[in-house]
Amino acid sequence: MNRRIKSCCSQLLHKACCCFLIMVCFLFLGSGCHSSNAPAVKTVRIGLAMYSQNDTFISAVVQEMEQLAREKESVSDLKINLNLADGQSNQTVQLEQIDRFLDSGCDVLCVNIVDRTAAAVLIDKAASRDIPVIFFNRQPVQEDLQRWEKVYYVGPKGEESGIYQGEIILEAWRKDQPDIDKNGDGTIQYVMLEGEPGHQDAMLRSEYAIKPLLKANILLEKLDSDTANWSRSQAAAKMKQWCEMFGEKIEVVIANNDDMALGAIDAMKEAGIAPLPAVVGVDATEPAIEALRKKELLGTVQNAPEMPGVLLELALRLSDPESSLEKMQIEEGHYIWLPYYKITRETLIQQEIEGF
Ligand code: BGC
Ligand code: CA
Repeated sequence: MNRRIKSCCSQLLHKACCCFLIMVCFLFLGSGCHSSNAPAVKTVRIGLAMYSQNDTFISAVVQEMEQLAREKESVSDLKINLNLADGQSNQTVQLEQIDRFLDSGCDVLCVNIVDRTAAAVLIDKAASRDIPVIFFNRQPVQEDLQRWEKVYYVGPKGEESGIYQGEIILEAWRKDQPDIDKNGDGTIQYVMLEGEPGHQDAMLRSEYAIKPLLKANILLEKLDSDTANWSRSQAAAKMKQWCEMFGEKIEVVIANNDDMALGAIDAMKEAGIAPLPAVVGVDATEPAIEALRKKELLGTVQNAPEMPGVLLELALRLSDPESSLEKMQIEEGHYIWLPYYKITRETLIQQEIEGF
């Protein structure tokens, strides 16, 4: 009897085991089928190093890149890991961040370099791991870009923004000279707020902004110029001094970027200067467009609005061995030049009419 129960039990156990194994096989096969039908997700790891996260323009570029990356993910099989690092305006800190990106196995680097004369070390590090590097906004010297074929620069040509600023002032002068020439001496008395010393955009904008005026034989008197390091508060402090020194004599303020133009406006309002002189900036940041609408700013220059899209596109192509760079319009093997756009109240109205 006992033995019969035992053998009956062992038969039942045997059957149960068989059923379990069959079920496991089905589950396994089922899940295998499912995964072979699902789209393969490819992960692209982009290491993005900013010179400083506090920079108004740079943080806007990076935010837009993040947004575009999410949009790209939603229409493709890609997973885009955009890893950000804030260089805190310190080249040593940024180089450590680059080391970390390379050690963690990123596919491509996008670098807004702190010190644009120090790109060689960074390029050699990336080249030793065969990781392409895209510099943007802060342009390394040409010899450095030529150290390796997988190094690129994406950005606009600084001189173009300077010329547009000069043209904006010239157009306003031609349209209503007394409005600018407050003391009626036929000369433009101006001050210039410069960006960070050594930055290609600061140097080129300062040099080129007056060229259209000189070319049109407009007389210019530079009251003073100084750097305010792209910063609104530094520009306000500098402008406060100039208001005390020159007061109503200032007819035009040329600022290398919008943050500094807005800082100048802050200080002039504070000093009770009215009407405000003509102020021009570069970048077309949101607060600058607001100031333009309020007629506090005469004009600005949109700073390569295509940059976030082009950076993402190039980074994705470089991390895909099957992709070609043919359509990327790369000049001299390394450069992708982007346009600036002149922005005045008239162009804003025009854009609104055209439904932008
Ligand atoms: C922009 C500045 C910005 C700088 C940072 C320039 O092109 O006009 O607003 O601070 O780049 O590198
Ligand atoms: Ca004058």
